[in-house]
Amino acid sequence: MKKIVVLGSTGTIGRLTLDIIRNNSDKYKLIGISCKTNIDLLIKQINEFNVPSVHIYDKENLYKLTNNFNNLDIYVGESDIGKFLQQDCDIIVNAISGFAGLIPTIESLKLGRRLALANKESLVVAGRLVKNYEKQYRSHIIPVDSEHSAIFQCINGQNKYIKKIILTASGGPFRGYNKDMLKYVTPEAALKHPTWKMGKRITIDSATLVNKGMEMIEAKWLFGLNHDQIQVIVHPQSIVHSMVQFIDNSYTGLLSIPDMRIPIGYALSFPERIENYCGELNLFGLNLSFEEVDMDTFEAIKLAYDIMKEDGTYPAVFNAADEVAVDAFLRNIIGFLDIIDVIKYVLDKNKNIKNPTIADIIEANNWARTAAKRFISGRTY
Ligand SMILES: NC(=O)c1ccc[n+]([C@@H]2O[C@H](COP(=O)([O-])OP(=O)(O)OC[C@H]3O[C@@H](n4cnc5c(N)ncnc54)[C@H](OP(=O)(O)O)[C@@H]3O)[C@@H](O)[C@H]2O)c1
Repeated sequence: MKKIVVLGSTGTIGRLTLDIIRNNSDKYKLIGISCKTNIDLLIKQINEFNVPSVHIYDKENLYKLTNNFNNLDIYVGESDIGKFLQQDCDIIVNAISGFAGLIPTIESLKLGRRLALANKESLVVAGRLVKNYEKQYRSHIIPVDSEHSAIFQCINGQNKYIKKIILTASGGPFRGYNKDMLKYVTPEAALKHPTWKMGKRITIDSATLVNKGMEMIEAKWLFGLNHDQIQVIVHPQSIVHSMVQFIDNSYTGLLSIPDMRIPIGYALSFPERIENYCGELNLFGLNLSFEEVDMDTFEAIKLAYDIMKEDGTYPAVFNAADEVAVDAFLRNIIGFLDIIDVIKYVLDKNKNIKNPTIADIIEANNWARTAAKRFISGRTY
């Protein structure tokens, strides 16, 4: 029986992870869960899975837990995350969204645990350091992102023969749009992803293709690649979850219906596989297509290539500016195309630090948030 801790259990990936544990109760035992503010759902999860320990980020609703449970171990705030993770467990799933996932990733790696990593931001903002921690503490990161799970499976130990990897992108709800058409798209339209059901930030990031840019950076660190070994192509059906091209010009790809329970299940069961109840592909009904990505309209891909070359604190600034801009777009404060303008402005103002420490990255993150907020509110930094 594998003991599992799920960070961000109330989110989209967190809930899907609990669904897998629910369907495989002979293999997995949930021993810890966490959330930011959604205590009501957390309480339901504690009751259903009989979870002995929890971590909450905000102490505002702490009373709801203390009122309901006598024998629950409760950890509160960022300073408690290390202590919370120290319990005896086999796998930590990091399904927290955004920059907030970085410290939990590092704390998990320091414990030498298997980390099923959905929080791509950890690798985007601090890829070099995260990989160093993985090596130093002999822990093991298994990617949860569907594209990276696909690549991880497609490489099959043959890293030294990789020519390039091909990350597939659905193209989001605005595939085929030009900039004039994108000017007035609404948050409601941007939240309608054609193939995946996800949290709000990642859904908007999929519409701008910032998510794909982040995945390029994530892949660079996960698989030790150069920027010119990473290609993005549009594949609207989201059936081929990514491919690897080897030096002999053969390709391997991974196909399945778009359901995150498949890569999450793989991250839990690796190197074995578990049965999944989420549906099979109808091979005869498939009509797969691949298109070039329009980098002039969706500038995030071009930006990601530049950021990968520059490295340093640039990726942290890219992520922070995007988090602020997406939030402003969702609140109808800025338009869709302004998201990239905010990112470009903040990147341009950043004084890049090569080989940053965690403290440098946290500072760059804080600086970029302030700069993005000031730019959005009409003042320049
Ligand atoms: N959704 C997908 O299909 C998908 C696919 C691939 C990768 N990912 C990646 O997986 C991560 C999670 O995505 P998601 O779509 O599941 O996000 P989500 O639905 O927004 O859920 C985020 C989770 O993180 C918690 N959280 C948010 N801020 C936190 C903080 N400061 N401290 C502690 N916990 C915090 C939330 O708690 P509350 O509920 O209390 O707010 C929630 O449990 C992201 O990095 C995303 O890029 C997602």
